[in-house]
Amino acid sequence: MLILGIETSCDETSVAVVRDGTMVLSNVIASSRKTFEKLAGVIPEQAARMQVECMIPVLEEALQAAGVTMDQIDAIAVTRGPGLLGSLLVGTVTARTLASMHKKPLIGVHHTLGHLSSTWLTEGNFPLTSFHFPLLTLSASGGHTDLWYRSSHTKGRLLGRTRDDAAGEAFDKGASLLGLPYPGGPEIQKAAQTGNPKAHHFPLPLHEEDTLDFSFSGLKTSLKYLLRDVESRNPKLVTCDIAASFQEAICLHLLDRIKRAMQLYRDVREVHLVGGVSANTRLRELALALCEEQKLVLRYPSSLAYCTDNAAMIAAAGQFLMQESGELAYEKFSTLASLPLSDLVRS
Ligand code: KG4
Ligand code: ZN
Repeated sequence: MLILGIETSCDETSVAVVRDGTMVLSNVIASSRKTFEKLAGVIPEQAARMQVECMIPVLEEALQAAGVTMDQIDAIAVTRGPGLLGSLLVGTVTARTLASMHKKPLIGVHHTLGHLSSTWLTEGNFPLTSFHFPLLTLSASGGHTDLWYRSSHTKGRLLGRTRDDAAGEAFDKGASLLGLPYPGGPEIQKAAQTGNPKAHHFPLPLHEEDTLDFSFSGLKTSLKYLLRDVESRNPKLVTCDIAASFQEAICLHLLDRIKRAMQLYRDVREVHLVGGVSANTRLRELALALCEEQKLVLRYPSSLAYCTDNAAMIAAAGQFLMQESGELAYEKFSTLASLPLSDLVRS
């Protein structure tokens, strides 16, 4: 089964061809992030205009790189939301047009289901054939931080979510306070490499509460106070030590939630990390130690390109929706900027 995936939910234009939900034949991503770097955010209208310009070249490149034509494609999967409406429309209008021209089934995919499907993607010749459910997935990006219990590719329960900022947003805001560029996650990780993670103490949010939710606003406030101290009393505080301690605090909070979920859901067999923040090497290191201790498999996307927004994960999610929801996967859908998590799967 060959699925063409299209993803345009934020500032990226991505098209991919994926075989059987796991084997990536091509995954082309054009991003206008550089344009928005100095602004620490995206201008929606400008992003959509750039996506209109690069949509067709990216589509052609993805088909060419995969060595296939539209005739060989079995179905088209596209992100239907949530995201920037203008950007989403560029992708869904393209997908609808292609589906109608080439008479292909069309599958609307929730962006988050794409991230949840990203851990199985591989470029090798040996696609994954065995999947071990139930599993826990931490999905952490610039827009959301969710913890899932999943009984299959498309079925599961949301155990907890952030009450304020997302984990990626905490990295981005922290980097901005430290005078580092956007996006902040990779910058803080780089600065932290030579820093001491124990140099500064940060609180462990919600640790005493009976919940699997997340909260990052307190960590951001602690960082603000710490930096105020630097200015007034202790100008010798070193940026890399602060970055390392702040990164450690975010990772320990994420790990604390996973650990608690492991204690509550003892039947889980794997732990997955997905979304932009799953690229963080310290998070992976800490998660690996925890999973080894609990004798569970840890999985995260096989390439950094599958951690951040990409079309391969949307194609994979399309395949899994077809497998698990049958005809319902092809239901008519609207393109929506805000799409509740309850709409992740239509069944
Ligand atoms: O999934 P994604 O590309 O886009 C959203 O849907 O938000 O995630 C982007 C987020 C940004 O907040 C960025 O700072 C964060 O992921 N990120 C990281 C790392 N790489 C990207 N956070 C921590 N460490 C990283 N290495
Ligand atoms: Zn995303």
